[in-house]
Amino acid sequence: MEYATLNNGVKMPLVGYGTYRTSNRDAARLVSEALILGYRHVDTAQCYGNECGVGEAIAESGIPRDELFVTTKTWTSGYADTARSIDASLRDLQSDYVDLLLVHEPSGDVGGIWRALEEAYRAGKARAIGVSNFLGRDFALLLEAADVIPAVDQLECHVYRQQREMQQACSQAGVLMTSWSPLAAGRNGFFTDPVLAGIARSHGVSAAQVGLRWLVQRGIPVIPKSADTQRMRENLDVFGFELTSAEMAAISGLDTNKSQFGWW
Ligand SMILES: NC(=O)c1ccc[n+]([C@@H]2O[C@H](COP(=O)([O-])OP(=O)(O)OC[C@H]3O[C@@H](n4cnc5c(N)ncnc54)[C@H](OP(=O)(O)O)[C@@H]3O)[C@@H](O)[C@H]2O)c1
Repeated sequence: MEYATLNNGVKMPLVGYGTYRTSNRDAARLVSEALILGYRHVDTAQCYGNECGVGEAIAESGIPRDELFVTTKTWTSGYADTARSIDASLRDLQSDYVDLLLVHEPSGDVGGIWRALEEAYRAGKARAIGVSNFLGRDFALLLEAADVIPAVDQLECHVYRQQREMQQACSQAGVLMTSWSPLAAGRNGFFTDPVLAGIARSHGVSAAQVGLRWLVQRGIPVIPKSADTQRMRENLDVFGFELTSAEMAAISGLDTNKSQFGWW
């Protein structure tokens, strides 16, 4: 596994396992399977309603906690409910800390929410704190108000929405941009895209692996989700080949600069 280093020195595995739209019961089973396959980084969120399942899988894995990287995200409106929710997340995840704690989206009293994250960070409840879905002005305003500069901004980022501007803004601020829905959740014909499929053929890999490799080769951590063992294995296996600069450029040409989801 290769790692990215956050602005406070914490190391984050470049490939993690996503758990959006996974029930507690499925999360317990799928995260267990992911850990057996070699994943050491798991992405959950309070609003996914599966932190208990993720916590169960981690507890039962027998893997030392310090060999895992666990991210969760708050889904709250201000300081007080955020502070409470962080303790509830830790209880559900059966851990004294998370590796990365994110504000899920820029809504509510962001200043108060961020203060609760900063306190959690100082109290050792999170090894790093950051945000998700903070673009443009929301991102700039947070940077102005923050005492602790966010370590991460987790954004929709894949071959069809490449987030070049935000990657630059993040890099200037010392924030690591990470990707959610790195496979665009299959939208826009991702898995049969002729550019990805052509490159995949020449490396003997899948279109999914090419799309993931293109991100990690840019230093962007990814958290693909799959409920299928073979595809989970495939998504982790993106370090045995390298895209040429011509291939990287061909994939850069796929950018539509638009969301595939219409949320942000
Ligand atoms: N911060 C945010 O606001 C936010 C928003 C959305 C997502 N996320 C995070 O990002 C994670 C990933 O995003 P996502 O789950 O929306 O989508 P994704 O990982 O881009 O794509 C998942 C879809 O692709 C399929 N798939 C996975 N690997 C494949 C492969 N190798 N070949 C063919 N098909 C494959 C899966 O089906 P199978 O299960 O059948 O393989 C599933 O339908 C989430 O689970 C969540 O943790 C965060």
